[in-house]
Amino acid sequence: MSEAKVTLTFSHGGEPIELPVLSGTLGPDVIDIRSLSKRGYFTYDPGFLSTASCPSSITYIDGDKGLLFYRGYPIEQLAEQSDFLEVCYLLLFGELPDAEQKAKFDATVKDHTMVHDQMNRFFTGFRRDAHPMAIMVGMVGALSAFYHDSLDIANPRHREISAFRLIAKVPTIAAMCYKYNIGQPFMYPQSRLGYVDNFLYMMFATPCGDYEPNPVLVRALERILILHADHEQNASTSTVRLAGSSGSNPFACIASGIACLWGPAHGGANEAVLAMLEEIGDESRIGQYLERAKSKGDSFRLMGFGHRVYKNMDPRAEIMRRTCHEVLDELGLNDDPLFKLALKLEKIALEDDYFIQRKLYPNVDFYSGIVLRAMGIPTNMLTVIFALARTIGWVAQWHEMIGDPEAKIGRPRQLYQGNKMREFLPLSERGE
Ligand code: CMC
Repeated sequence: MSEAKVTLTFSHGGEPIELPVLSGTLGPDVIDIRSLSKRGYFTYDPGFLSTASCPSSITYIDGDKGLLFYRGYPIEQLAEQSDFLEVCYLLLFGELPDAEQKAKFDATVKDHTMVHDQMNRFFTGFRRDAHPMAIMVGMVGALSAFYHDSLDIANPRHREISAFRLIAKVPTIAAMCYKYNIGQPFMYPQSRLGYVDNFLYMMFATPCGDYEPNPVLVRALERILILHADHEQNASTSTVRLAGSSGSNPFACIASGIACLWGPAHGGANEAVLAMLEEIGDESRIGQYLERAKSKGDSFRLMGFGHRVYKNMDPRAEIMRRTCHEVLDELGLNDDPLFKLALKLEKIALEDDYFIQRKLYPNVDFYSGIVLRAMGIPTNMLTVIFALARTIGWVAQWHEMIGDPEAKIGRPRQLYQGNKMREFLPLSERGE
């Protein structure tokens, strides 16, 4: 810990306050303001732009340099050389597994892939056309009603079992959401298959015919899952931590993360990118939409552009851009009108002063939606795939928080701007 301190002085007088400065292993120092509330002050930071809400050893992002590390490993190396379950192990336990640990971990996850059979019945309570994210929030939350044997969150072994269950069951539930939506029977998970192959099998196989996943598509989906597995203290992860800080059931906490992820400014962006491309429809209309994105009076934003933290290139976007080309080549879809439109839009926006000055670059979701669509995954399932990938990040962050002896229930304060105290008037005396 650094010895550095900052001193807060007040223009209206009053005692200056000395605050310690904490240093992490990487990244900017943070001012430790914990003592301020005892002195009667709070800090004001809407959107938490200047707030480090917790210590963490899981993920590191340098937004200016475009760096993303999981447990110290650069995302590019993991996306090229690792597989998703290995990344899950790394995020959860902090180290890469050896061969024996990896085999055991994969087998344990496989053991947990089925969901309780009674959960099948919950689906029929939803309309067929319900958004799969709406069903996901309900179904993952409902897991909390089934797995009572390991819910002592103070017990690390119980937390681990909940983590295995979540990693294993979320893909099964995700595929069930799709099958229910299109009116096909649910396909049970297959232990002979790998994690990603099994997910594609549950999505696309039917009882009438088997499904042979294309290895190029399996690899592409594996990369999408790795790239989306964790992203530091983003909105949904902070939601999971906040929900978990009160000691809530882990399945309910993850359901709260799914609810937060659904928003178009967060995980809903890949779906919003495709909706936007379809709305633009033709290269000739790009200019008109760029003008809308730049106009102060118009709330329209170019979906898939910009990031709260990456003010340079999103490192995940570059990997996803390459993957996008691989998948479209493999499927012979290079002439796909939507993909051509996306590339044209990307080029025009990257040369536009408005986007250059604000450092607005394509983010990972600009490309991931196109890849998933090419793989035959419908638009309304894109955020579900993101939730599937991010489940491990949420679980690892939740696990870390519960194990942190300094963790407290999250309870922000506010800058109150409402009425001062006033007297209640009976209805008969109001408006006189
Ligand atoms: N299109 C047009 N203008 C934009 C965009 C955009 N996509 N993003 C930011 N701006 C402008 C914004 O209007 C503001 O302009 P000005 O300074 O003139 O007022 C400036 O850029 C800074 O914007 P901001 O709202 O302060 O930036 P932020 O860091 O709060 O927002 C963001 C980040 C991701 C919410 C935003 O860029 C956005 O809405 N992007 C589109 C949605 C999207 O693609 N989201 C996925 C994020 S990646 C997935 C993930 O990691 O969750």
